[in-house]
Amino acid sequence: MSDTASRPIGVFDSGIGGLTVVAEIIRQLPHEEIVYFGDTARLPYGPKSPETVTQFAIEDTEFLLSRGVKMVVVACNTASSVAIDTLSSKYDLPVVGVIRPGALAAVSSTLDGRIGVIGTEGTIASHAYRREIAKLDRDAEVLEQSCPLFVPLAEEGWNDREVTLVIAHEYLTPLRDAGVDVVVLGCTHYPILKGTVGKVFGPGVRLIDSAEETAREVAERLASHGLAREPGGTLEHRFYVSDVPHRFKEQAERFLGGALPFVEVVSIDEIGGAI
Ligand code: DGL
Repeated sequence: MSDTASRPIGVFDSGIGGLTVVAEIIRQLPHEEIVYFGDTARLPYGPKSPETVTQFAIEDTEFLLSRGVKMVVVACNTASSVAIDTLSSKYDLPVVGVIRPGALAAVSSTLDGRIGVIGTEGTIASHAYRREIAKLDRDAEVLEQSCPLFVPLAEEGWNDREVTLVIAHEYLTPLRDAGVDVVVLGCTHYPILKGTVGKVFGPGVRLIDSAEETAREVAERLASHGLAREPGGTLEHRFYVSDVPHRFKEQAERFLGGALPFVEVVSIDEIGGAI
């Protein structure tokens, strides 16, 4: 195994949402070590401009590079939507985003070519999914809907609350009535609300969780670059946040279903943040 292959995979998100991707990477690639950065001081990214989110994404990537990662996974739909091309051309290591894997899964799952995409305001305004889906299937019809209130509801863990269902109906009924047969959960927080979203759409609509597909793409890219880590040795996943580690720890343990041994705060100054 090369020295590079033994290095960790870097994963970043604006906060805890990217842990849905981490959980899948750990499940599919149990020999890989993770360094995670959650930019909790600057969350949410969803309502911010593409320029600001791109700058944050560059700083998040630089932080992960300073921790010696071999690959960067942008486990945030908003950052993937606006910054993936910049990151891929700026850095000499594989960069995996969440949009392409989700788009691929949607196109291969739809039977009648009507695909719903839900995400933050930034993701929906960028039309990143629409573009990616069009590359794969020019005839697919894509209906997009931003659901800004879903992020705080997911952070609270309010999947089975009545209020969440009411809000979900408000956002999603137009998509349901338009007859989509597949819906991309285009925000890393949304898999937490899968139960509620599923209640609005009913069993005939398939929900795409881009975490699963992204972990699959991570595995493929590691293999094609000769970067897969061999089994053996001890693994120590490390989690860094830019603010309030105890809140992150509590939420993260709920997301990952287990204790987090290592959570540390890095200041925004340390990751180069001017904003
Ligand atoms: N992680 C973001 C995403 O997937 C959602 C949270 C935020 O707005 O920062 O788009």
